[in-house]
Amino acid sequence: MKRIVIAAALVAMGAAAYAQAPAGPPPMPPYMLRPLAPEGDRLKSGRDGKTLFEAQCGYCHLAGGMGTNLLTKQQMMAGNPPEKGLLSNRDDLTRDYVKSVVRMGKGAMPQQTKVDLTDAELDAVAVYLGKAD
Ligand code: HEC
Repeated sequence: MKRIVIAAALVAMGAAAYAQAPAGPPPMPPYMLRPLAPEGDRLKSGRDGKTLFEAQCGYCHLAGGMGTNLLTKQQMMAGNPPEKGLLSNRDDLTRDYVKSVVRMGKGAMPQQTKVDLTDAELDAVAVYLGKAD
């Protein structure tokens, strides 16, 4: 009898623990929730720089991405607040700097080709990020 009571108690505890487990998978971080690239001619000027940045650069440069993680560390070591790890929060980037990093790569960032991002798309992203101009 005692054994049955203990077994029943253990089953109840297990059920309670299971009921507290979050339903479904954990929420996805922003770098996994990128928008789709904007529609339209990829070679035409006047593209949407913010959406392009989030779609093409976001898997590294939105919150939780490896580029953000690495840049957050660099910024904090330079005495800046951690929010500066997000490129969209930077005000010290020029358009030319953004373009050259994208085409040539930098440290752990691989260069992005004209297939990844056309020149017209890069112009729009550089306008969006290049707040120091
Ligand atoms: C595969 C991941 C990845 C992708 C994709 C990527 N980056 Fe990066 N980016 C990085 C990493 C990592 C760094 C930091 C490099 C280092 O210092 O070693 C970086 C650095 C930069 C920097 C330099 C910041 C500084 O403080 O000097 C700029 C500007 C930049 N990225 C822009 C972009 C843009 C614009 C795109 C999209 C066209 C892009 N990156 C796509 C990973 C990426």
